[in-house]
Amino acid sequence: AKRIFSGIQPSGGLTLGNYLGALKRFADYQGKGAETIYCVVDLHAITVWQEPEKLRHNTREVAAAFMASGVDPEVSILFNQSQVSQHAELAWLFNTVARVGWMYRMTQFKDKAGKNSENSSLGLLAYPSLMAADILAYHATAVPVGEDQKQHLELTRDIAAKFNHDYGVDFFPITEPMIEGTATRVMSLRDGSKKMSKSDPSDASRINLTDDADAIAQKIRKARTDADPLPGSMEGLKDRPEAKNLVNIYAALTGENGDQVLARFEGQGFGAFKPALAEVAVEALAPITRRMTEFMADPAEIDRILGRGAGQAAAIAGPIVERTKDIMGMIRSR
Ligand code: TYM
Repeated sequence: AKRIFSGIQPSGGLTLGNYLGALKRFADYQGKGAETIYCVVDLHAITVWQEPEKLRHNTREVAAAFMASGVDPEVSILFNQSQVSQHAELAWLFNTVARVGWMYRMTQFKDKAGKNSENSSLGLLAYPSLMAADILAYHATAVPVGEDQKQHLELTRDIAAKFNHDYGVDFFPITEPMIEGTATRVMSLRDGSKKMSKSDPSDASRINLTDDADAIAQKIRKARTDADPLPGSMEGLKDRPEAKNLVNIYAALTGENGDQVLARFEGQGFGAFKPALAEVAVEALAPITRRMTEFMADPAEIDRILGRGAGQAAAIAGPIVERTKDIMGMIRSR
């Protein structure tokens, strides 16, 4: 059976980009014949400094966001990464398969490490090896993510292929990325050439899943645009990144494509489009924000759900990691 895996970092503040590029799609894959495994990747988050109390809070908040977006822990496996020791174990085994040069080439490493990369954590460099372990510990074959994770998923394929080749086995599957829909790369509201990100210093550049209706409307009203009216199809937005981004956001929120949205707004300016966008954004996000708050009111219940999910996850990952060690020549005598 097909197995779907995806993860989100609890590094603080989920954005509309996380929601449209990932979260919103996760519930759709449930109960359609594939097993769905969703993970709050706390081990990834600590590759840059996290205040322990905040990490605990953010881990619960991401779990709440999964559930508020429709991930049902009775149907999917939902857990936090550090409770399933097979992730870290398999990542170590993969650290001996992956090459240092592969890691240095990762654009996310270059972005996050910045100029002083010698001083970044060793974990930040090895990050993609842990991500490959997340996926391959379950032999997952399909991974829904936003566009920015594409390079990491290619590296996951490289690690699986090199392991299979080096040990002469056909053990790890070659994973397919699922980068689908009109919002695989939601851009900043202030700069159409940068992706919307929780780490952008400008809060006006993003919509947070915790923003209220007024904040959402205000950020959309102030979003950078041009002065031209909207064309009748997406083709006409080729060289207008900010306008294109807003239309794509609208389309992803209503489940249409960009051309369908533009068919209604052709000839109109942003004076008309922005309030309409704010309305669909608030309508889509307000229930999510409300449900997140409801889940967060009972942290013990979230912890219980994560613990149960971790048990289910370990039951799948355990035998796969044991078999990996066996293939590599390690004695298993208990
Ligand atoms: P993270 O936590 O940065 O983001 C979580 C998900 O949100 C997507 N995303 C976006 N999509 C569209 N537009 C945006 N502006 C935008 N910003 C973020 C991301 O592509 C991602 O799908 N390395 C991963 C977490 C991870 C993972 C995994 C994912 C760890 N192990 C295994 C899949 C499978 C990350 O940092 O995502």
